Amino acid sequence: MNDPRDLLRAYLRQRRELGEEELVLDRLSPSEVAALLADAPPAPALTRAPAERVAAPSARVEAAPRAVPGEPETHRRAGAPVPGSTPHPPSPRAPAAYVSAEEISSLPVLSQVREIALGCPRCGLAKTRTHVVFGEGRETADVMVVGEAPGQEEDRSGRPFVGRAGKLLDLLLLSSGFAREDVYICNVLKCRPPQNRNPQPDEVDACSPYLLRQVELVQPRVILAFGAFAAQTLLGTDVSIGKLRGTRQQYRGVPLVPTYHPAACLRHPAWVRSVWEDLQRARDVLDAA
Ligand code: URA
Repeated sequence: MNDPRDLLRAYLRQRRELGEEELVLDRLSPSEVAALLADAPPAPALTRAPAERVAAPSARVEAAPRAVPGEPETHRRAGAPVPGSTPHPPSPRAPAAYVSAEEISSLPVLSQVREIALGCPRCGLAKTRTHVVFGEGRETADVMVVGEAPGQEEDRSGRPFVGRAGKLLDLLLLSSGFAREDVYICNVLKCRPPQNRNPQPDEVDACSPYLLRQVELVQPRVILAFGAFAAQTLLGTDVSIGKLRGTRQQYRGVPLVPTYHPAACLRHPAWVRSVWEDLQRARDVLDAA
């Protein structure tokens, strides 16, 4: 489901099923939304809020869907590969030979980094993973999205952010004018921690050469760090995400925007607005250059 209209339709359907009655959109008129959602089933009423910015049209999602009780927090949407991005054959591989951080840091192209990562034996997660989730998207993207680690759906499919949180991520990006196919998406850890437990320091150390090389090769103009773990790992801090968000940060000279993880927004819908504001900061970084 890569068509933004399908995403919005699915989101609105979900909102309606959850009993939401109002969706605030401040950068699309009701008729623009109606056009966007042509053929959509009846959706929650649309309210036009006072415009905060004059910019390319996009929808502001005021509240995220509520988490479904009993459903694990990091479960993602399965969908087709992003057009124009690196193909990711979902064939599980046995761990291959150890490749040093120095060797990884000198690999000249992302496809070679991916190839090494797909057989990575550098930490214990190699034994429990189904797929390595290397990352995907535009390899020359201005915007790099960094999440925490693959969850169940990502481990199954080999693709990042494809479950419920991923669907919300797509909408959040879209609402700020960033189409998923235009950004590069990856995680700090490339393999799923069992039961979605927190990544361990040794796993982060083992995996970080891949992320570092991804940043070096993609050369994004801005990094969006979604969640405490991505922000704290990249910034080398234990300051809470609540304190980090809204501040100006850099990772190795690249502007970094810390924000809440979409899975956290599913539990705390009011945080969606903060994420949207943070995405406007990323827009400002791009527009300023
Ligand atoms: N959460 C993450 O941090 N990354 C994913 O790829 C999916 C969920």
